[in-house]
Amino acid sequence: MASLLDVRGVSKRFGGLSAVRDVSFSVEEGEIVGVIGPNGAGKTTLFSLVSGFIRPDAGEIRFQDRTVTDLAPERRCHLGLCRTFQLVKPFGNMTVRQNVMVGAFARHRRPGDARAAADGVLEATGMTALADVLARTLPVERRKRLEVARALATSPRLLLLDEVFAGLNPTEIKGMVEFLGRLRARGLTLLVIEHIMAVIMQVSARILVLHHGEKIAEGAPAAIARHPRVIEAYLGEEYLLA
Ligand SMILES: Nc1ncnc2c1ncn2[C@@H]1O[C@H](COP(=O)(O)OP(=O)(O)OP(=O)(O)O)[C@@H](O)[C@H]1O
Ligand SMILES: [Mg+2]
Repeated sequence: MASLLDVRGVSKRFGGLSAVRDVSFSVEEGEIVGVIGPNGAGKTTLFSLVSGFIRPDAGEIRFQDRTVTDLAPERRCHLGLCRTFQLVKPFGNMTVRQNVMVGAFARHRRPGDARAAADGVLEATGMTALADVLARTLPVERRKRLEVARALATSPRLLLLDEVFAGLNPTEIKGMVEFLGRLRARGLTLLVIEHIMAVIMQVSARILVLHHGEKIAEGAPAAIARHPRVIEAYLGEEYLLA
């Protein structure tokens, strides 16, 4: 059977810079796959390619066994492929519920239906009590949850999460790890960018490592932590290896 997501030989250049170079990988239904790499490694660019915000110079992206390489982001989202953004930007003057409804409108035309769907997502994400709060008043951890909730409201099968752990304290990180575990338990497949190895090790079954736009390693967390090219790529970085 085909993988849920199949990325084959994808490349993207920005002028003279190879941001993503000949990257291939697959994601199976129900997995949490981590994407790590130092700053500028090409992680966010890879997400933009997979979600359709930019087009690759070469390569193919298949989702649910169909080619989506040239589909617009909203078409991909409709098929069940959705992302969050590294810079979290909720609509500040809208309430939490209204923000989530924006995602729900990808599936529902009628406001009443979108509202019901949004309320379901708020409940599932433990944010019901915040439904009527203005998004701009939320602390960073709640904002990140809102970003995930908004993406969830589009009913994805595969959700791409770009650094939802960044800026969180250890207690909040623990909460977010549990939260992702609950999403997976509900059958969602996740591709998660993170550059703190210690965190990604806890959540992913499998990890891809990017460095200067290339995939330099792929495997189980324990094998990745020992991988010579990974250790070399992270040397001089402040990140914890284990
Ligand atoms: N739109 C763009 N135009 C030009 N260069 C870009 C663009 N987007 C990204 N880049 C460059 O491509 C490289 C990869 O960037 P990318 O944002 O994908 O890295 P990243 O792994 O997500 O890094 P970080 O950990 O800092 O988020 C970087 O050198 C970056 O400066
Ligand atoms: Mg990034």
